[in-house]
Amino acid sequence: MGARITHTSLAPFGVEVAIDPSSAVTAANKEELRRLYARDGLLVFRGLDLSMEAQCEFCRIFGPVLDSPYENFYVSNAREDGHLGVLELQWHNDVPYLPKPYLAAALHAIDVVPGATSTQFVSGFRAYERLSPALRERISGLNALQVKQRFSDRSNQLADLQPGDLCTVHSVVRQQEGTGRPYLFVNENMTPLIIGLSPAESDALLQELHSALYVRDDVYEHAWYPGDLVLWDNLAVQHARGRISADKRTLQRVSITDLGYAQQYAADLDIRDAYANAALLTPAA
Ligand SMILES: [Fe+2]
Repeated sequence: MGARITHTSLAPFGVEVAIDPSSAVTAANKEELRRLYARDGLLVFRGLDLSMEAQCEFCRIFGPVLDSPYENFYVSNAREDGHLGVLELQWHNDVPYLPKPYLAAALHAIDVVPGATSTQFVSGFRAYERLSPALRERISGLNALQVKQRFSDRSNQLADLQPGDLCTVHSVVRQQEGTGRPYLFVNENMTPLIIGLSPAESDALLQELHSALYVRDDVYEHAWYPGDLVLWDNLAVQHARGRISADKRTLQRVSITDLGYAQQYAADLDIRDAYANAALLTPAA
């Protein structure tokens, strides 16, 4: 007999899941959780109290989790070892410029002022489904360049790159593993151009795709309460946040990926550390 799992749909997308904490999670329960996750690529749990180790273990239901401080860390404006302090973050997938970007990510609110800050999510599945048949046809087979993130609060351009910065070409339309469901894979922050088009054509097409992705009424905004955990498909779902106010905020972050950042981009480790520390030093607004 497994744990009792109940779920409700979130608006405009996502699934909120409750698991009876008194029972062990069985193989059948894990299968059910994976099925719910695959539906929209976003799950919300509430009232959890997971250590970093326990969160890593929980995330292994959905895919591989490495034992690595580069993948699993604290998003915090309060902890000394926290990353991304108070910065605004434009719409993005995490590390899209790696050959194998993270499959999924999970944030768990361990120290937050109830309801004071939020993270926003949009669905690349729903954006693709919003495109006209003509536009779907036009982007079929196109590739886009994803570039290293030098700025989190404005679009990164080729001119922003520094020697050694990694860029990777990915398909504009990718498919969900297992179902083949298509989703858009260009983002506001780290996709400066579509390969093979003139700069003007590329900018215009990206603008059209952004219009399908960043639809105000189709954003799931998660206001953080202590104990919340949001797990999302980092490829099909994009996230963003506004600048963080003076309210303290610590989210425990775990990445689901076969390959770590360091394995894919060892040359960048020093730069990444420098960025993390710089972010921490940015004063709260
Ligand atoms: Fe992110």
